[in-house]
Amino acid sequence: VLLTTACGAVYDYGAYDSTRDDFRLGRFPDGFIWSTATASYQIEGGWDVDGKGESIWDRFSHTPGKVQRGDTGDVACDSYNKYGEDVQLMTDLGLKYYRFSLSWPRIFPNGTLAGGVNQDGVNYYNRLIDELLANGITPMVTLYHWDLPQALEEMYGGWLNEEIAEHYHNYATFAFQTFGDRVKLWLTFNEPLSFCGGGYLTGQHAPGIQDWTTESSLRCGHTVLKAHAMAWHTYDTTFRHLQGGKVGIALSLLWAEPRDPDLPADVQATDIVLQIYQRWFARPIFGDGEYPPVIQQTIQKLRSAKKLEGLGFSDEDKSSIRGSADFFGVNHYTTSIVASKPIDIQTQNLLESFEQTSAPEWPRAESDWLFAVPWGLRRLLKYIKDNYGDPEVYITENGWSDGDVQPPVMEDTGRVCYYMTYIDEVLKAIEKDGVKVRAYTAWSLMDNFEWARGYTERFGLHYVNFTDPNRPRTPKQSAKFYSDIIANNGFPE
Ligand code: NOJ
Repeated sequence: VLLTTACGAVYDYGAYDSTRDDFRLGRFPDGFIWSTATASYQIEGGWDVDGKGESIWDRFSHTPGKVQRGDTGDVACDSYNKYGEDVQLMTDLGLKYYRFSLSWPRIFPNGTLAGGVNQDGVNYYNRLIDELLANGITPMVTLYHWDLPQALEEMYGGWLNEEIAEHYHNYATFAFQTFGDRVKLWLTFNEPLSFCGGGYLTGQHAPGIQDWTTESSLRCGHTVLKAHAMAWHTYDTTFRHLQGGKVGIALSLLWAEPRDPDLPADVQATDIVLQIYQRWFARPIFGDGEYPPVIQQTIQKLRSAKKLEGLGFSDEDKSSIRGSADFFGVNHYTTSIVASKPIDIQTQNLLESFEQTSAPEWPRAESDWLFAVPWGLRRLLKYIKDNYGDPEVYITENGWSDGDVQPPVMEDTGRVCYYMTYIDEVLKAIEKDGVKVRAYTAWSLMDNFEWARGYTERFGLHYVNFTDPNRPRTPKQSAKFYSDIIANNGFPE
């Protein structure tokens, strides 16, 4: 009761109140998966130890001016050494699933099979996986969470070059071969939209290429879709009958509403935003195999302006990409309100045709892009069910940030309310809309390196003290809240 009162404001639909629906706060279906997530570069540290190769994020964070305060992932949460403690935190939470990523350059220092495998890196992941299993925790492994081997960036130009799909495929095959006896849940990529957009359009993420023509980000996305499909097919034909696992992909999906639903220009702008931020990767894999129209048109435009090669899918590509996932991994954080901006189609680019805003009543996290709009998740899940063939959905990330303030925020009410209201919307999506949601994953197990924001934004259920060389972890109030949810398979009665 206390919580519903405290979190009621987060639940206010405000002007977008078309489907207002009260708290449900019940139990989830039996067997529902509760998980938390992390990623290698964000937590491991040990950036140059035991034969690990350099990644584009090592290079990027070591370049002055790229990451806030000059923060790096050199040590991060030191999970390379403290993975045993991490598993202990999970045990304390009562967690049965854990999503983490493999660092490609820890396994293949220069990214290629020919460059040789780093056995110490393999041993690290074997130790982690075995420790998880010994504690009854099922691993869910992301193959690529943004730390590309720097050598592949230098040799090929990273994701801009389709040739690296082959190297990714070799790496993925090696991972299936090496860890697949124990790992049954795989994600090929984490949020292609974020690393193709951040890495090759805004330049705010590694490798820091700024290209507002959108050509580079489109090339990146193209390579990634091919690489993803190659990995899925290899698992499907070669490993599935032996290992019996599932392979999906984690896509970042935004929800959005027009600022003025009666203004056709705003409605159209919202659709453009969603074609990019929700369908660019989803439609090729889970829909009809085509890029959404806005992406297709942009490719056409680039092609005719520059006589571009590539960037088109052959029929063979399309049919190999379409349907190449056993489940739909959803990373979702927030909702936008979209307003149209008039542009000159000849000279300006589509990205200038809209403005993304928020409603004044939406609570904001420390991250300037993150607003608590729980009903957006329910609408998104319904959209996925209705438009992508009612797939099994694994929510692979959802979470809230607080700031790097002294003293640390342990009474993290904002996060508790965020989890409570978002989890409740998931429950409604399952019970009322019949969406096949199988898993919910909180981002993140602990505070960690938040990319270009360094350690200034904290997403953890556990507080990590980054100025203490031992990187001690302390549970926040949200850890207790989430462990109650796990223990009750939903909300306590
Ligand atoms: C998405 C990314 O997958 C993760 O790495 C990041 O830390 C969170 N969102 C929060 O921004």
